[in-house]
Amino acid sequence: MESDLKSLKIKAQKEIEKSDNLKELNQIFKKYLGKRGELSLILRSLAKMSAKKRKKIGKEANELKRFLKAKIEKKMKKMRLIGAPTEEAGWIDITVPGEKPALGHLHPLTQVKREAMLIFQEMGFEVVEGPEIESEWYNFDALNIPKDHPARDEWNSLWVKSEGKKLLLRTHTSPVQIRYMEKHNPPLRIIVPGDCFRAEATDASHEFQFAHIEGLMVDKEISVANFKAVIKTFFQRFFKKPVKVLLKPDFFPFTEPSFEVDITCLACGGKGCKACQKTGFMEIMGAGMVHPAVFKICGLNPKNWQGFAFGIGWDRLAMMRYKIDDIRLLRSGDLRFLQQF
Ligand code: PHE
Repeated sequence: MESDLKSLKIKAQKEIEKSDNLKELNQIFKKYLGKRGELSLILRSLAKMSAKKRKKIGKEANELKRFLKAKIEKKMKKMRLIGAPTEEAGWIDITVPGEKPALGHLHPLTQVKREAMLIFQEMGFEVVEGPEIESEWYNFDALNIPKDHPARDEWNSLWVKSEGKKLLLRTHTSPVQIRYMEKHNPPLRIIVPGDCFRAEATDASHEFQFAHIEGLMVDKEISVANFKAVIKTFFQRFFKKPVKVLLKPDFFPFTEPSFEVDITCLACGGKGCKACQKTGFMEIMGAGMVHPAVFKICGLNPKNWQGFAFGIGWDRLAMMRYKIDDIRLLRSGDLRFLQQF
């Protein structure tokens, strides 16, 4: 029996070495290691041997099995690498349907942005962008929020280590209002989509990174009525159904008067859910009439110009559109969530 194993090893090794294609290697595998293979038969015959013999031969046979298996696999791998002919080689079935490459799709936030931009562009707004790393001047001072003003606490800032000018990750997109008005004369209508950052605890409706869509319209005679008309038109077109819009008094140093704008929570249809903290309404934007001090800072005479500005919660807009009741899902990177859109 022992000599059987030895000669089997020599024979198999030779065959493996000689073989130059995958088909043959498969046959060699079957011949020795397959169910009815030579080595398998030896292993099966162990049952009939004495305990002592069984132990010795069994060990050797198993070692040989592992040895041959590894040898065949190694050679197969090598052959595949050099593109050796496979069992199916020789003909190609050109009628087999091709495999379609998996295509990705746009993130729900991007889909919402594109749609929103289109609606505002149709109303004559121009899309503008600004930097995510902002100076203290543009993020606060120029927006009429002086250094020690308590309103700064509203925007828990993430400061960037920098020499010289104080820099931070912008807490809102409002600094782009200033950047634009410094360089352009009214009449103007701009819309600014962009990410914002705040050092905040997160919950179902708050994230530390989120996005705003800033709007600004300045002309000779612009009133709150114009603002209401613009946002009502926007919501109507965006949601394709009437939504209740609620204007509540609020405070922002760069607008006077200032509003908080709420709409019916569409995640629950107004019934109350975790996204709207069971109120049935979702705070969707801050807004107001541009403060005269802001016009002055940009070199515009507040006696000649009037305007409104707003900042829509872009993530919240997506939540309302797709009935998402937790803002944290949007940037979780969870494919199970993203594949639904
Ligand atoms: N920037 C404000 C915020 O961070 C929103 C806002 C934009 C308010 C424009 C008034 C005008 O919430």
